[in-house]
Amino acid sequence: MPEQQFTRTLVTSALPYANGHIHLGHIAGAYLPADIYVRFKRLKGESILYICGSDEYGVPITLTALKEGVSPKEVIDRYHAANAEAFARLGISFDLYGRTSWDLHADTTQTFFRTLYDGGYIEEQEMELWYSEQSGKFLPDRYVKGTCPKCGYEDATGDECENCGAQYAAHDLINPRVNIPGDTSTPVLRNSTHWFLRLPEFAGALKTWLDSHPEWRTNVKGIAYGWVQDLRARCITRDTDWGVPIPLEDPRAAGKRIYVWFDAPIGYVTNTRQWGIDTTGDAAAWEPWWKDASTRLIHFIGKDNVPFHAVIFPAMLMGQKDYILPDNVVGNEYLNVFNRQTGKAEKGSKSKGNMISVRWFVERFSRDAIRYYICAIMPEAKDAAFDWDEFLNRYNGELCDVVGNFVHRSLTMTVKNFEGKVPEPGELDADDRALLESLPALIDGVAESLEGFRFRQASERFIDIGRRANVYFDTKAPWTTRKTDIVRTGTTLYVCCQVVRALCTVMAPFAPDGAAKLAETLGITLPQGGPNGGPDGWNAAKQGIAAGSPLQAPQVLFPKVDPDLIAQLADEHAAGKAF
Ligand code: MF3
Ligand code: ZN
Repeated sequence: MPEQQFTRTLVTSALPYANGHIHLGHIAGAYLPADIYVRFKRLKGESILYICGSDEYGVPITLTALKEGVSPKEVIDRYHAANAEAFARLGISFDLYGRTSWDLHADTTQTFFRTLYDGGYIEEQEMELWYSEQSGKFLPDRYVKGTCPKCGYEDATGDECENCGAQYAAHDLINPRVNIPGDTSTPVLRNSTHWFLRLPEFAGALKTWLDSHPEWRTNVKGIAYGWVQDLRARCITRDTDWGVPIPLEDPRAAGKRIYVWFDAPIGYVTNTRQWGIDTTGDAAAWEPWWKDASTRLIHFIGKDNVPFHAVIFPAMLMGQKDYILPDNVVGNEYLNVFNRQTGKAEKGSKSKGNMISVRWFVERFSRDAIRYYICAIMPEAKDAAFDWDEFLNRYNGELCDVVGNFVHRSLTMTVKNFEGKVPEPGELDADDRALLESLPALIDGVAESLEGFRFRQASERFIDIGRRANVYFDTKAPWTTRKTDIVRTGTTLYVCCQVVRALCTVMAPFAPDGAAKLAETLGITLPQGGPNGGPDGWNAAKQGIAAGSPLQAPQVLFPKVDPDLIAQLADEHAAGKAF
């Protein structure tokens, strides 16, 4: 569908669990692409809102609390604060980073539940579940472990195997054991009533809706269609006291809560509500963002979240009647980690200790450096791997040597030889004209990649502008002509200043700090845009910078990373200390 029919865009990134520190795998999956996209749209002056927050319910959090001997609240407070800070330091520019433990969220979730219930989309089922007589409680999700009946994996949970993806009834789990510290009993089966979302009711509508989005990524469509072909009612409650209470006057709901995967995506709505209250004081300010057909909703997620965002949450939205549906679900593959000892990429895992946390990384490198590298290898169509040597080569060799260096030598020479001003051009020759005339299309090329969620391609096209400019600079050799032909030199540097001006805007979504420094040097402001839109600062880049404009002394935009530091940190990482 043509994008012009939309008047505003709501972007979400998956709500990370407040159960651990976010790492570079998360960033590559759901946050950096969304942030680059949002920054680009803000520059364009489109009305855009970027919402995220912590996912604070669920069994992993209560298990962490149990293991540490603290309350779940303590766990979520700790990781909510840590992750909010890590995102901020990386420049992930959410309009609001909320929390699913907010009272407002219980309200939104219960409203969703009630509407679905009243619409006949929720049914109850009596089911057999694992129970610990020693702890006196049911064992939802990871509270029970055992051997997968399908593949033999020994750490499978009560009804699902994370190794082979199989889903089964509790009584099929082989050799069940209780996963509660200090509980040595053998689990037994007991009956319990739970509430199920009747997904098959939405099968036809989901299929029609998916059919209307042929433009989605192949990986996302594949998973979504796979699910839609085989929909079953899904249990949306759990035996736990950590979650949103079930809004039913039913004694069987006692001691039970709404399942985290039901409430979490509703967090996007809650956080939009809170944003509206915070920024306008109007409790209804959120509604157009979720209910007006001219709002474009885009979810950025990692691949494991596709079923929830492309099937289950859309069904929940359909059941509300007046909500819009996502216009795109941008799902990335995984960012693995390159192991220098084995020479192979491996999955990031806690037990291997090979993950790199954001908080560790931002202490050691500029955010522009990390953002650039991760964007350059973004796992869009297939998995990618973080590799120290590649990080060094691509950041130093591309962002520093190609773009940073071109900007620096152009501006240094201009400031020195032309009284700190953009020079007056003389007569333009064929090289000058070719570069100047190609600029609008080059800027449009980056925009086109970003509009299509092709972030790697966008970063390549951005760097390519720098490459062309360097070829031009070397051909024109202003450091030589300076001694013989000052008019010619002025023309060359005038042309270079136009490219520098364009690069300032084009780099902003990828490398916001470099762009801000450069904007200061050029004496321009890059529009901040936001939910209410703003001037079109993206296309303003095509208008160039006028001769005579004053320039500040240029700063180094992208300081080079030292190879010795990389070697040292790669060792630290290999020793499991990069978290
Ligand atoms: N917390 C989940 C995860 O990390 C993602 C939740 S996304 C949401 O996999 F939509 F449910 F919020
Ligand atoms: Zn299995």
